Amino acid sequence: MRFDVITLFPELFAPHFVHGVTRRAFESGQVEVKLWQLRDFGDPPHARVDDRPYGGGPGMVLLAEPLLRALAAVRADRGDAEPVLLVNFSPAGRPLGQAGVGEFAAGPGAILLCARYEGVDQRFIDAEVDLELSVGDYVLSGGEIPALALLDAVARLQPGVLGDARSHEQDSFSAGLLDCPHYSRPELLGEGSAAAAVPPVLLSGNHAAIERWRRDRALALTAERRPDLAARAEAEGRLSAADREALARARTAKL
Ligand SMILES: C[S@@+](CC[C@H](N)C(=O)[O-])C[C@H]1O[C@@H](n2cnc3c(N)ncnc32)[C@H](O)[C@@H]1O
Repeated sequence: MRFDVITLFPELFAPHFVHGVTRRAFESGQVEVKLWQLRDFGDPPHARVDDRPYGGGPGMVLLAEPLLRALAAVRADRGDAEPVLLVNFSPAGRPLGQAGVGEFAAGPGAILLCARYEGVDQRFIDAEVDLELSVGDYVLSGGEIPALALLDAVARLQPGVLGDARSHEQDSFSAGLLDCPHYSRPELLGEGSAAAAVPPVLLSGNHAAIERWRRDRALALTAERRPDLAARAEAEGRLSAADREALARARTAKL
């Protein structure tokens, strides 16, 4: 798959492609990323890409014409028979969730527009943008971090990228629940009465009991922090009888 990123700050992306487990996806070309400097398509003589908003007010707006030129160049370079989606990141976009990430991870890629300032001339969005995505109810100064968030989440879903293929199946949201807590050495952290022990079941070697404990903790955490997810898993019939009992216990314990 190939992602084309239109940005004023392509240098923000490069470090991400050479570190951590996701670099495998970028270096192997499983997830190809081509960066496009928007200023290369700016208005002459100074490669201008932004201007003040009509109607007055603070900030600048990204101009539609440089964006149209950049998009035409990207589409020509890709030469897709079937045009891929053009995504604009925006706080007003649809919330990006794990299900959406999964769709990108299984698709042909996309063109990602990273806006700055007050955003993009609405006429460009109306005419060209297929999807607007938000990464949360807060405001960042540009679309680069949202684009990196999407690329990272897509890269770690590619086969062979995570050391253990089951890792992302256990991650939060994959099965609609939050992940359970994790522990590693030492068995006792600290000394005396203040020492914090690893939950004994994890040392028992009883794999069925360990799986049940993890599932119960995931259900309890989801019930506490994301009751919306717990209710959805229940309503969609994704919980076993043992899961439903664990959820009921967690809800009662909270009262
Ligand atoms: C300073 S913000 C513009 C905020 C815009 N005036 C608003 O209030 O919706 C500049 C750019 O950062 C990106 N951005 C900021 N917060 C974002 C978020 N939560 N999700 C996705 N993109 C975001 C968008 O590309 C946005 O156009």
